[in-house]
Amino acid sequence: MPTLSAGAVKTWYNRHYAAKGLQTMRPDAAYPVFLDLLGATPGSRLLDVSCGAGSLLAAAYARSIESVGVDLSDEAVRLAKRVAPTAEVAVGAGEALAFRAGTFDYVTCLGSLEHFLDMGQGLEEMKRVAKPGARFCIMVPNQDFIGWKVLGHQGTAQQDINEHLQSLAAWRRLFEAHGLGVVRASPDRWHAVRWRAPGARGGVVKRFLLGPILELAWRLIPLRWQYQFVFVLERRDQASRASRIP
Ligand SMILES: C[S@@+](CC[C@H](N)C(=O)[O-])C[C@H]1O[C@@H](n2cnc3c(N)ncnc32)[C@H](O)[C@@H]1O
Repeated sequence: MPTLSAGAVKTWYNRHYAAKGLQTMRPDAAYPVFLDLLGATPGSRLLDVSCGAGSLLAAAYARSIESVGVDLSDEAVRLAKRVAPTAEVAVGAGEALAFRAGTFDYVTCLGSLEHFLDMGQGLEEMKRVAKPGARFCIMVPNQDFIGWKVLGHQGTAQQDINEHLQSLAAWRRLFEAHGLGVVRASPDRWHAVRWRAPGARGGVVKRFLLGPILELAWRLIPLRWQYQFVFVLERRDQASRASRIP
């Protein structure tokens, strides 16, 4: 791929959101799980880096968590202000966050780090704006996803724009190289549970037959072959306290 600029990534996403709006985004029901994984508590402050259309910000508000979002795309921020009207949302790059050091209890970045021009700088910034003892939740795609091996291609729905796919071990190495210890790594199960989620569309067959079969099949796939990983992280100087789950 030729060298890209932040402007080109921004333009790609602005077009994407202007054309598709909320159509390609996961529904509201897909987001509370990330707050559960973090153990996020009411009264805390959460920064969602690359907040997209703001669904995590809305889920955080529903739990009385003060939420702030940043995204490179103006169109995403426009949508996020509609979806999460109580959140503070601004246009900005994850590699240069406009917040003071030690501001947030939780920092999230879902399905986005892989599109950063400088992933390492993005992680350093997330770490900088986090309070000591803060937790991070980062969801990233797996280069070794078994479905892509079967289909004979690789990449998510945004593979056309600067997408870095890595294996489970490589993501771990990247986080650790930037001082973030892995507290927990779990599979992203959204696609397996979507037919059974609250408010899901689809008939009885999907809900009560295909849904449970899909969910069971997904559970049998080892973590290293899953579609995306959801990492819960903390600064390495805190990580010795963490229960490590492979
Ligand atoms: C797949 S969307 C995910 C949105 C949201 N986190 C979610 O889960 O619904 C990826 C988002 O990353 C944003 N993005 C890409 N590169 C970025 C960067 N360097 N800094 C900030 N946001 C970025 C895009 O504008 C887009 O909104």
